Amino acid sequence: MKNMFVFLTGILFCICSGLESKALVEPYLYDMTDTGVQFRAVGSGAKDLLKVKVKGNREYICENPVEIAPKKYLYSVEFVGLSPSTAYTYSFSFGKQELSGLSFKTAPKTFEPKEIKFVVWGDTQTLVMNTKAADSIAALKPDFLLHVGDLVRGDGRIWKEWPDYFFNPARALLGSAPVFPVPGNHEQGVELFSQLFPAPKSSSKHAANGYYSFDYGNAHFVSVHVWYGAPGAREKSPVLYNANKNGRDDVSELKAMLAEDAASPVTKAQMWKFLYIHIPPDVKDGPESMRKTWLEILPLLKTYGFDMAFFGHKHIFADTRELIVDGEDSGMKGMTVGLYWSEKEDWDLKTAPTDVVCVPSFALVTLNKNGKKESVVQPYVWDRVQVEFTPSVKETVLTR
Ligand SMILES: [Fe+2]
Repeated sequence: MKNMFVFLTGILFCICSGLESKALVEPYLYDMTDTGVQFRAVGSGAKDLLKVKVKGNREYICENPVEIAPKKYLYSVEFVGLSPSTAYTYSFSFGKQELSGLSFKTAPKTFEPKEIKFVVWGDTQTLVMNTKAADSIAALKPDFLLHVGDLVRGDGRIWKEWPDYFFNPARALLGSAPVFPVPGNHEQGVELFSQLFPAPKSSSKHAANGYYSFDYGNAHFVSVHVWYGAPGAREKSPVLYNANKNGRDDVSELKAMLAEDAASPVTKAQMWKFLYIHIPPDVKDGPESMRKTWLEILPLLKTYGFDMAFFGHKHIFADTRELIVDGEDSGMKGMTVGLYWSEKEDWDLKTAPTDVVCVPSFALVTLNKNGKKESVVQPYVWDRVQVEFTPSVKETVLTR
C-alpha cells in the first residue's frame, strides 16, 4: 500500500511539474523601439525561468515574475542596445519548454522614412476566427500590430480568457510582431490589461491604462482608452474618457492629454499620425456622453494633424470614411475593423457572414510605400467561399 502511495505521488508530481514547466502564454513581443524590445510570458509557477537569447547578444533571464492572477506569473525580459531596422533571430526556454528559429525586426530610427507595414485588427474574441486571422496576418509579415480592443471574449478580469481567446490563437504572430493594444469594453477594467500591456516607456506623462502614444519610424500613434464596460468595474480604472452614463466623463482630461502629446517636439516632427480607439464616433446607439465628447474631440484631431483613426467594437467592416457626427463632417478619416461575428459556440468558418452587417476584417497599412510620401491602407475581408481573408478591391491612399 505504501509503495502504491509513493508511486501515485510520483506520477502526480511528474504531471504537476510538467504543467508548471510550460508557459501558459509563450513569449510575446512588446514595446518594440529602434534599439530594444521586451519579451513577456506567463506561467503557472513562480520558480520557472524565462530565458531569451537573441542572436549576437547575451542570454537574458527572468527569475522574478510578478503574480498577476492567482498562480499566474508574468515574466519579462528586456533587450536594449539593438540596431535599428534590423532582423534578429531568437530562441527562448521556459521551464522544460524550448523554441528556436524565431525572429523579429526592430523599428527604424525615429523620423526615418523607411517603409513600414503594420496590421490593424480587433475584436479578436474567438478561438477559430482569431486563429485564422492571426495566420493570415502572419503571412503578411507586418512589422507590428495595432489592436483596437476587445481582445478577450467576455470579461477581461478573468484570467482564462486571455490565453483562450487572445494569446494562444495568435501565438506565432505575437512572437514575431509586437502588439500595441487599446482596451475595449470586454477588457472590463484594466487590472490585467495594464499588467500584460503597460504603457510603452516612451509615452507621455499622461500614459496609463491603455492611454499612451508611441513612435515607430516617422509615424506617431496615439491609443485612447474609452470606457464602456460594466458599472462598478471602473472604480479601480482611472480612465480619462468614460462612455458610461453613470461614470466620470472628463473630456478636459482627454483634451489635455491630446494637447500635451501634440505639443511634443517629436510628435510635431512626425510625418504620419494615427489614432486608435475601441468605439467609433459615428455609432447610432452610443450614449449621449460619448456623442458629446466626440463633438469636442474630432475637430482637435484634425487640428493636430492626424491622418486617420482606427476603430473596432461594431463587428462591422466600415471602409475608410469621413467621420460625421451630428451631421458635421469632421474632415477626419476613419476605418472600423473586427473579427467577432457570432454568439454561437460552433465556430464554422463557412457560416461567417459576408454581408455588411458583420464582416470579419483587418487592415494592412504600408507607410512610406516604395520610399514615397505615400501610405496605403489595404483592408482584408472574410470570404467564406474561399474560407480566407482576401484583399478588398478598395484601398485608401494617404499622401503628404
Ligand atoms: Fe466592443
